[in-house]
Amino acid sequence: TSTVLVLGIETSCDETAASVVSRDAGGRGEILSNVVLSQIDDHAAFGGVVPEIAARAHVEALDRIVQAAMDEAGVGFGDLDAISATAGPGLIGGVIVGLTTAKALALAADKPLVAINHLEGHALTARLTDGIAFPYLLLLVSGGHTQILLVRGVGDYERWGTTIDDALGEAFDKTAKLLGLPYPGGPAVERAAARGNPHRFSLPRPMYGRPGADFSFSGLKTALRIEAEAIAPLSETDVDDLCAAFQQTVTLVVCDRIGHALDRFRAEFPDLADPTLVVAGGVAANKALRAGLDAELSARGFRLVAPPHALCTDNGAMIAWAGAERLALGLHDDLAASARPRWPL
Ligand code: KG4
Ligand code: ZN
Repeated sequence: TSTVLVLGIETSCDETAASVVSRDAGGRGEILSNVVLSQIDDHAAFGGVVPEIAARAHVEALDRIVQAAMDEAGVGFGDLDAISATAGPGLIGGVIVGLTTAKALALAADKPLVAINHLEGHALTARLTDGIAFPYLLLLVSGGHTQILLVRGVGDYERWGTTIDDALGEAFDKTAKLLGLPYPGGPAVERAAARGNPHRFSLPRPMYGRPGADFSFSGLKTALRIEAEAIAPLSETDVDDLCAAFQQTVTLVVCDRIGHALDRFRAEFPDLADPTLVVAGGVAANKALRAGLDAELSARGFRLVAPPHALCTDNGAMIAWAGAERLALGLHDDLAASARPRWPL
């Protein structure tokens, strides 16, 4: 196989994104363009993403975002080898906008369509940015997902851990809302936590020490609300201290869960020279969490690979790249591919 050129479209949440990526015969990738339009301002007043507003915003923006990605890459539709789009999981209105647009482009340009699982996009990004080899472990922590995945190969994944209720980013966002901090909550909670005392409040550590690698965050949110109500009205110091306790607790829980997964990975691949954990998703930007993970990994001889922040959060390059990886294996889809709100890897 030779170099392939793929356009990728991502519309499953609140980013309207398109990108052109190439992949050569040796598996090396290059990002030719990566255009992301965030809808954060459209949703901020509601404290979270409103699906109907998101879908309408994707309709309004997608044409020009795709054109911008093509222009920036300096290619025409005839130059492409495939067109890929997120087909799920995600907010279904937005997914339909992106997938239908990709189908129309694929039909008009007579190119294959590659329907991508959004999680696969996150899972394969580190191969684009860091060229890492299979197998590796992935910790995906975003507003919509909290998962630990074994990545054995393209299309070959095993879910070792998932949240039984809220996603980690969602827990940060809900904590922020409860404490009167702005949306998105993660960065606001992190800033407040940096000023706070993590030892003033003691919060439960859901799933800590349990076998397996699953997560739960909803009980933590409830415990935090009860602490906050008991001392209301909250001073700035109270908010800082509550954020510090929350952040420290989730860091301990995530490190515990990851520790279990690292041990299992070691047991399954005892001869692997360079065992690697990849982190992805918006929450991976959290410095306290990263420090905790670093310690956990070095204690076990694992390497941490963290793609640049812009490629950890939702973007088109991860979808284009997943499309290129699939295409290189001869995998693509027909125009009947359907949009799926739920789609476990
Ligand atoms: O991956 P992402 O941009 O979008 C999806 O959810 O797909 O992740 C956004 C999430 C939000 O919940 C946001 O609050 C959280 O990532 N986040 C953070 C930080 N930056 C973003 N959480 C904790 N600490 C941060 N610094
Ligand atoms: Zn995502």
